[in-house]
Amino acid sequence: MKIVVIGGTGLIGSKLVKKLREHGHEAVAASPNSGVNSVTGEGLADALKGASVVVDVTNSPSWEDVAVLKFFETSTRNLLANEAAAGVGHHVALSVVGTERLLESGFFRAKLAQENLIKASSIPYSIVRATQFFEFVKPIADFSTVGNQVLLPPALFQPMAADDVASAIARIATNSPVNGMVEIGGPEQFRLDELARRDLASRQDPREVISDPHAGYYGIQVTERALVPDDNAQLGETHFEDWLDQSTKQAPKSALQSA
Ligand SMILES: NC(=O)c1ccc[n+]([C@@H]2O[C@H](COP(=O)([O-])OP(=O)(O)OC[C@H]3O[C@@H](n4cnc5c(N)ncnc54)[C@H](OP(=O)(O)O)[C@@H]3O)[C@@H](O)[C@H]2O)c1
Repeated sequence: MKIVVIGGTGLIGSKLVKKLREHGHEAVAASPNSGVNSVTGEGLADALKGASVVVDVTNSPSWEDVAVLKFFETSTRNLLANEAAAGVGHHVALSVVGTERLLESGFFRAKLAQENLIKASSIPYSIVRATQFFEFVKPIADFSTVGNQVLLPPALFQPMAADDVASAIARIATNSPVNGMVEIGGPEQFRLDELARRDLASRQDPREVISDPHAGYYGIQVTERALVPDDNAQLGETHFEDWLDQSTKQAPKSALQSA
């Protein structure tokens, strides 16, 4: 099966392309670097010729409110129009668990706009809503740092390994469209502040994580359950401590802190 992965050079996209190829599919990694741009439309018609499935794992280069909305709206419209012309039978997109609970953020308003365009289109689809990636815990801490302190709310948090995200998308993309949403998450629940503390400690990062119920998650207020999936979510296998051990093993201190 020919499967075009838009954003196929990114964190999730590159893992997904590798897994699809291992399963014998013709997976095309499409991104501006390979001459395919979903915002300008450049290279899209050629890339989609003969494709059965298109997976959208792009991300916007800017998360500024207007820019990110323009990115996801323009990119999604271009993809869906080109898929209709090419006779693509399944559009798969990666979104985020709790999107409708996080609309104070321009990023999540843009993800909701992306989802709504997909639902309104004529292309059969599967929207995969994932929880935050383990790889994203440190960037969250970095965003919430003031001086030598990291201020985070004790919200429930159920992150997952990027590798498990890619496996779930590969499985969904090679099955029939669900014409709806699938939630995926990690195997364990934590508190966001507690997990950031564990992540930074294992990197020998000297910052202190302060639990603050009024602190934001990426600048917005979140309720206790805003970031966690429903009970019927499909869960990844990788546990946070195992991933952390693996990703920090034998790395020099300077590399740990910047990883
Ligand atoms: N971070 C999280 O915890 C989390 C949780 C749930 C869902 N998600 C979602 O997961 C998705 C992918 O995240 P990621 O971390 O894998 O992203 P990433 O590593 O930043 O990769 C983004 C990809 O998008 C491509 N891209 C950017 N502009 C493009 C354009 N105009 N046309 C085509 N491709 C373009 C990039 O190509 P180049 O390499 O050529 O620039 C790159 O391949 C995002 O939509 C995000 O909302 C993230």
